[in-house]
Amino acid sequence: MLIRKDYDPIPSSQITSESHYYERRMLMKLAAAAAVTVASPLSATLAFAKNKSRPGLELTSYDQITTYNNFYEFSLDKEGPSKLGQKFKSDPWSISVGGEVQKPLTLDIETIMKKIPMEERIYRFRCVEGWSMVVPWVGFSLSSLLKQAGLTSKSKYVEFETLFDPKQFPGQNRNFGSIPFPYREGLRIDEAMHPLTILAVGLYGKELLPQNGAPIRLIVPWKYGFKSIKSIVKITLSDHQTRSTWNQIAPNEYGFYANVNPAVDHPRWSQARERVLGKFFKQDTLAFNGYAKEVAYLYKNMDLTKFY
Ligand code: MTE
Repeated sequence: MLIRKDYDPIPSSQITSESHYYERRMLMKLAAAAAVTVASPLSATLAFAKNKSRPGLELTSYDQITTYNNFYEFSLDKEGPSKLGQKFKSDPWSISVGGEVQKPLTLDIETIMKKIPMEERIYRFRCVEGWSMVVPWVGFSLSSLLKQAGLTSKSKYVEFETLFDPKQFPGQNRNFGSIPFPYREGLRIDEAMHPLTILAVGLYGKELLPQNGAPIRLIVPWKYGFKSIKSIVKITLSDHQTRSTWNQIAPNEYGFYANVNPAVDHPRWSQARERVLGKFFKQDTLAFNGYAKEVAYLYKNMDLTKFY
């Protein structure tokens, strides 16, 4: 198991989260060294690559990332998911990749973890509501999974679907009026194959908690958070633009692309600035959430006020 040795210097305000992180890292090391069977096979296989990403990003604390959540399958407020998710069962779990592919497949999480090396990615995360955070995700490039199914000339869009299980997700029992479950999200194939796009299985070196989308979720760091769909069970490749829950609910407010863009406001609020969780003062929002250099070329001939 590869354990990363370094970490960005973290300011004193983050000491709690840092010590938490190292404590866990030690536990993992001990578990591996003693060949102890840990509670879940995932914990033992999470591996860390040396941090090559963005120095200077200040991590949001583990507590904040895991107690301030949007997960409507559990609840409509921010505090509900961490409480209502405590009994959520994500083991066993499998994920299917089908539609316009050469070889449809269904893999359980353990197989994915064995086949694909995990790495750590420290990314900014910006919610369309105007708050943001910085998260050390653990995961792997979505492209490595899609390549296993084999793309065809008809693999032009990718649709993701969250588990539909009203016994586990109280929010799916209630009629919230307008949210059509299962939650679905979509990407264009070049976005899906982009190296920054990952499937995350952990954060801060721990397995994802239910409220953050256990056991596997999408992370597309240059897009608003609602694109980063949680608890995925199904991935379908398609030759036409796929469904997106928020785009279906309110197309004038939430576009299919949903690239972070300080110059295009939400109809009901400005997107120019954002509040970082745990910080008092707001900061400027960055084009493509700070990843313009890596991704702006994907949209070079598109009017981003139209394709928001
Ligand atoms: N995925 C599902 N299945 N259901 C949801 O309600 N909320 C989205 C996204 N993924 C959501 C989801 C929104 S609006 C955001 S901002 C992020 O998850 C929040 O992720 P976090 O709770 O891990 O911060």
